[in-house]
Amino acid sequence: MDNLVLKALRERRSIRRFKAEQIRNEELTAVLEAGTWAPTGKGLQDPWIVAVQNPELMHRISEMNRKVWGTDTDPFYGAPTYVLVFCSRPEKWPNGICDGSLVLGNMMLAAHAIGLGSCWINREREMFDTPEGKAMMQEMGLPEGLMGVGALALGYPASFPPSVKPRKENYYRIIR
Ligand SMILES: Cc1cc2nc3c(=O)[nH]c(=O)nc-3n(C[C@H](O)[C@H](O)[C@H](O)COP(=O)(O)O)c2cc1C
Repeated sequence: MDNLVLKALRERRSIRRFKAEQIRNEELTAVLEAGTWAPTGKGLQDPWIVAVQNPELMHRISEMNRKVWGTDTDPFYGAPTYVLVFCSRPEKWPNGICDGSLVLGNMMLAAHAIGLGSCWINREREMFDTPEGKAMMQEMGLPEGLMGVGALALGYPASFPPSVKPRKENYYRIIR
């Protein structure tokens, strides 16, 4: 079987080189909207999505991530937009990370579907557990009691990965 959604699922790749040009507002909104349509446990819509295009804030986020990772390079690959996803801490809602991950997945697929590139950027959990991270969540206007799930580097792709790994054998099985 095949259709446009199945094709997009197969062809989305993590993009790690971006054009400097900012994406259009309607493109950003389309990606964020797609995130809001992800399924969530009990339909609670627990995750919180924050898109950042402010260079000063982006620099601070990138630096925080870089420090957790222990690298010299920008973990967001110079993308012009970051999208961060937060969820309730597990004591309050045990499905938060699952919910937030689906939001990120929806947004990556939507980005690809409209010609944007994205890559999941990790380490938000650790970043936003620090005093600096907690202060930043406040600055972003988020409520208390959240944690970082993950983030996206988002923008127009400057290059595509040349190849894709084949799917592992026995990835799935059907038991009838
Ligand atoms: C939970 C998770 C964390 C990831 N963290 C990073 C990351 O920090 N930096 C990065 O460049 N890619 C990251 N990736 C992207 C993966 O490396 C990528 O999805 C994988 O290599 C498969 O490639 P594809 O997305 O092109 O199919 C992450 C992906 C997931 C799902």
